Amino acid sequence: MLKAIYPGSFDPVTYGHLDVIRRSAKLVGHLIVGVLNNNAKMPLFSAKERVKMLKDVTKDLPNVEIALFDGLLVDFAKEMEAGVIIRGLRAITDFEYELQMSQTNHKLGPELETIFLTTSIEYSYLSSTTVKEIAAFGGDVGQFVPEEVRKELEQKMNARRRM
Ligand code: PNS
Repeated sequence: MLKAIYPGSFDPVTYGHLDVIRRSAKLVGHLIVGVLNNNAKMPLFSAKERVKMLKDVTKDLPNVEIALFDGLLVDFAKEMEAGVIIRGLRAITDFEYELQMSQTNHKLGPELETIFLTTSIEYSYLSSTTVKEIAAFGGDVGQFVPEEVRKELEQKMNARRRM
């Protein structure tokens, strides 16, 4: 059975991520969505909150597991016995960073392969960063993220405004 990891920050998960998760889950036997627990990136949502949102939006996918990780992705892949990393490619601007990351991971763990899925065209512009910016200015993010995530974003932004 092919086991793969789809790693990321998911701060928060968007329809673009969900598209890659759904398509990957059809390709592999078991998909682990690896959520990076790295406060250095100063995420808006805690690792626990990001995991909860991902669990909510993937609950209909029986072969998808959500797991936190810190440290090196290759070590996490080894620990989970996964041989493949999946990453989404939106545009040419993603390519340089993704190429560097996959080649570095291949050096650190030669048995690990990275597979890229090009994101569906309707999500090619979408990023968690822009979603957070729209939400911070009170814009409607309903077309970019699932309803559960939209509500969490609204609450988070309201709490920030009260601070
Ligand atoms: O969603 P992101 O922020 O683009 O995901 C980046 C991620 C989590 C895949 C990447 O930062 C990562 O794998 N971090 C773990 C540390 C690591 O293994 N670094 C060496 C490979 S470049």
